[in-house]
Amino acid sequence: MEIKNMMVIGAGQMGSGIAQVVAQAGIKVFLQDVKDDFLNRGLGRIRSNLDRQVQKGRMSEEEKEVILHRIELTTDVADGKEVDMVIEAAVENMEVKKNIFTRLDDITPEHAILATNTSSLPITEIAAVTKRPEKVIGMHFMNPVPVMKLVEIIRGLATTDEVYQVVHDLALKLEKTPVEVNDFPGFVSNRVLMPMINEAIYTVYEGVASPEDVDQVMKLGMNHPMGPLQLADFIGLDTCLYIMETLHEGFGDDKYRPCPLLRKYVKAGWLGKKSGRGFYRYDQ
Ligand code: NAI
Repeated sequence: MEIKNMMVIGAGQMGSGIAQVVAQAGIKVFLQDVKDDFLNRGLGRIRSNLDRQVQKGRMSEEEKEVILHRIELTTDVADGKEVDMVIEAAVENMEVKKNIFTRLDDITPEHAILATNTSSLPITEIAAVTKRPEKVIGMHFMNPVPVMKLVEIIRGLATTDEVYQVVHDLALKLEKTPVEVNDFPGFVSNRVLMPMINEAIYTVYEGVASPEDVDQVMKLGMNHPMGPLQLADFIGLDTCLYIMETLHEGFGDDKYRPCPLLRKYVKAGWLGKKSGRGFYRYDQ
């Protein structure tokens, strides 16, 4: 099965990046969100990414326009009634995702594959709300999507080999490197990454060092390209908190307990780069 047209749900940092790479691969895509404002912001992000490619001479102005023309903005999920595949990239919340998948199952054609970009939530549980669990799969991109090569592909309990293969081939078409992982909380990437970020937040919370110094230690000492707290700001502190909660609940081990400072920042609306403030301040 070849994927000719798609829908991406959620036009935030991940959804807009996914729509961009899909359109760049020649696939028509509906980008859906709940408000026009969010859609326009997402499209703005795509446009400035592509502008940068033009400035660097990697793409012509005409190519940019062709790519942008493949992206159609919509607030109506029902526009997905003829798509071959959906990638959901709404907030990291099980109830929200279950509602979206229930709706998608009703609307999309029988053959459509329903993928989620969840960072940590069980694919099998999301699949269970549909009548097509064999066509539900995790397709976990990294941030920023146009730059990062990895895609974790996660099979739910019922996902068929055929569906896995289509999604694997799609990842290659998007010029990504797919890695197959099993359906456990946090998969591989966030099971390893997030406890490190959470621990970095604890070191600030306990007054061991400032955010700048924690990041400096990890950059210079471990050769990480970016410190864990800056990375947390880029991921989104709300997303980090949801992932830690999923690990904590999923494994039942207190070593995954989210740092109270992370909770406090999220409650304050300090969500990192996307809200202008997290461990650092950002120009909006
Ligand atoms: P974000 O906060 O930037 O964007 C989420 C978007 O989803 C918002 O525009 C919001 O309006 C929209 N949304 C919320 N409910 C919706 C609904 N019912 N229908 C349609 N749209 C809805 O979040 P971000 O960072 O893009 O994350 C999205 C998903 O991708 C989450 O599941 C997250 O765990 C996952 N992810 C995030 C990564 C990151 O580094 N931020 C990396 C990999 C995966």
